[in-house]
Amino acid sequence: MNRAAARDNRSYVLGSHAEERARLNRQHCIWQEAMLSAWQRAGFGPGQRLIDLGCGPGFASLELAELVGPSGGVLAIDSAAAYLDHLQEQCRQRRLEQVRILQHDLAEPLASAALDAGSWDGAWCRWLAMFLPRLDPLLDLLKQALRPGGRLVLHEYVRWDSFALHPRGEQLARFVQRCILHWRDHGGDPDVAARLPALLEARGFRLLHSDSLMACSPGDQPKALWLQDFLASYPAQLSAAGLWSATEQTALEAELSWARRHTSLWITPALVEMVWERR
Ligand SMILES: C[S@@+](CC[C@H](N)C(=O)[O-])C[C@H]1O[C@@H](n2cnc3c(N)ncnc32)[C@H](O)[C@@H]1O
Repeated sequence: MNRAAARDNRSYVLGSHAEERARLNRQHCIWQEAMLSAWQRAGFGPGQRLIDLGCGPGFASLELAELVGPSGGVLAIDSAAAYLDHLQEQCRQRRLEQVRILQHDLAEPLASAALDAGSWDGAWCRWLAMFLPRLDPLLDLLKQALRPGGRLVLHEYVRWDSFALHPRGEQLARFVQRCILHWRDHGGDPDVAARLPALLEARGFRLLHSDSLMACSPGDQPKALWLQDFLASYPAQLSAAGLWSATEQTALEAELSWARRHTSLWITPALVEMVWERR
């Protein structure tokens, strides 16, 4: 582990090591089209000031920076120093001076002085809220930061246990339950999107658009390959946490091997898109 990874918030359950960063990059490529459509729907564009919440290594932040251009601004926030170092270096190489990077635990309040309260046109939040033990600081930040009319775009899960393989996905179903247990043990909620509408409405946000991004793919298609990519790395982390045994892994690998030799359906966890407007 490098020094920046060692400085990171150890409670982040997926970690910020180089292999996970590479997986996030592949994941970003698979979901890029959906992301760009969502930004277009929200009216994100040149000259705007946009926040990337839980930006990770900044694959989306870099695209936001290109979108807003030199006259706009991007605030990229994450707790993982290793990811932010990566983003900093990418911004330097691409001469993207419009990106400001902030290391912050988004489960804790952020002083409004650090934010330019009320000056932001929009915020993008993908696969962050599900890891937060407390949502209030994130929602308060959004309420403070966005100007009236500012837009929030979310891609978060509503039912993670819909992740399935058919036929013969019994061991995968066990693995899915164990992942959920692991994340809940760390204070997260993989079904967080179910709670967000009430919480955002109570803070004066109005829902403009919602849709399901759930997919059902044969094993050689991008969304199924994305799930297989996760299955290639995460069992080791579950095992290190004492939540997945070698015997269970052998049974999972037998199932995946069978799926590679037969036509199978891969169902993604139920991801939802929401676009909200700050009143
Ligand atoms: C699955 S990654 C998603 C990264 C990025 N949003 C994307 O879509 O590629 C989750 C990110 O949330 C960040 N994160 C988790 N808990 C956090 C917290 N309490 N405060 C700030 N960032 C956090 C992690 O460091 C990681 O970068």
